[in-house]
Amino acid sequence: MSHETPATDRPLTTGLAEAAGMAGHAPSVHNTQPWRWKVLPDALELRVVRDRQLSAMDPEGRLLAISCGAALHHARVALAAEGWTALVERMPDPTRPDLLARLTGFTHTGADPDAMRLVQCMQVRHTDRRPVSDEPIPDAALDEIDRAANREGVNLQILDDTQKIQLASAAQQAAAVEAGNPELLQELAYWTSRAGTGTGLPPEVLPEQAPQTTVPGRSFGRPGTLPVGPGHDRAAVYAILWGSEDEPDSWLRAGEALSAAWLTATRLGVSLVPLSGVVEVDGTRQALRHILSDLGFPYLSMRLGLADPTHAGPPHTPRLDVAQVVDTSAVRDQRS
Ligand SMILES: Cc1cc2nc3c(=O)[nH]c(=O)nc-3n(C[C@H](O)[C@H](O)[C@H](O)COP(=O)(O)O)c2cc1C
Repeated sequence: MSHETPATDRPLTTGLAEAAGMAGHAPSVHNTQPWRWKVLPDALELRVVRDRQLSAMDPEGRLLAISCGAALHHARVALAAEGWTALVERMPDPTRPDLLARLTGFTHTGADPDAMRLVQCMQVRHTDRRPVSDEPIPDAALDEIDRAANREGVNLQILDDTQKIQLASAAQQAAAVEAGNPELLQELAYWTSRAGTGTGLPPEVLPEQAPQTTVPGRSFGRPGTLPVGPGHDRAAVYAILWGSEDEPDSWLRAGEALSAAWLTATRLGVSLVPLSGVVEVDGTRQALRHILSDLGFPYLSMRLGLADPTHAGPPHTPRLDVAQVVDTSAVRDQRS
């Protein structure tokens, strides 16, 4: 039985611009939103914005590409929710490394209800750095999150107790190394004092004191105003996203997997906090490789847990205006 529906009356370019706009909800390291979209008559292009790369913390651009990958996945889901399927070329032009992806070959089929649910999740997903509740995550929910990452071609290793301790030790070591890097601290100070710019981390989303967690979260260099309470995240699960290559296109895919896992987690009431300090420092990134039995390359570690349902979480971080991240100049006359 065919699920095809009649082609939509809405111009393709309107759908592309809207999907690129929805991708603005994606998570990014320090809320840098280092992407820009170009809407073309029959294509959508994703470019990296090097001005918003963290040159001290992320000189290789690993977290930059992961952030852009998350935006790419958000756009793909938004298109699917509107009924569009597309071909996705990652790193389509070796002579233009800043062109991260090109979406082409659009056909309009029926709107995908699963994608529609994930679009709703995009609008409520956020990073909640408070300790998670004592309630364990149901196994079925963890399996679903794992499968969501796997479908993007990336592995999600759920850590056992020994590996959790190893991750905690690596995170402590990474924090100590980073605390001794003045350029990195300056960069952190910049991204935590960006009020009114649509980027960066406002004090309301940063803990007022370090929460009690098995694996230490990132120190943002200044206390925020988010009350953390006395809880300890004993029921938290820690995991590492990893794959067989350590190249920009695999980092992009890691970002797509992060987005897929995070939106699925949101749908299931599971909170996810990326912990990237351990992949920013060479030595601790190697330690993560050992945790993975040297089977592949770590892209990002994360904490998963059920959010405390009795307290409102932190507010949403700001976002850049759509006009700053979506260029529709090539199709202005075609959009309704
Ligand atoms: C690649 C990547 C790395 C991140 N690393 C951390 C981290 O180490 N610690 C942390 O608390 N949040 C981390 N985050 C979460 C971002 O700070 C967060 O996504 C951003 O501020 C936007 O806020 P939102 O997720 O609430 O929309 C990371 C996010 C991404 C995509």
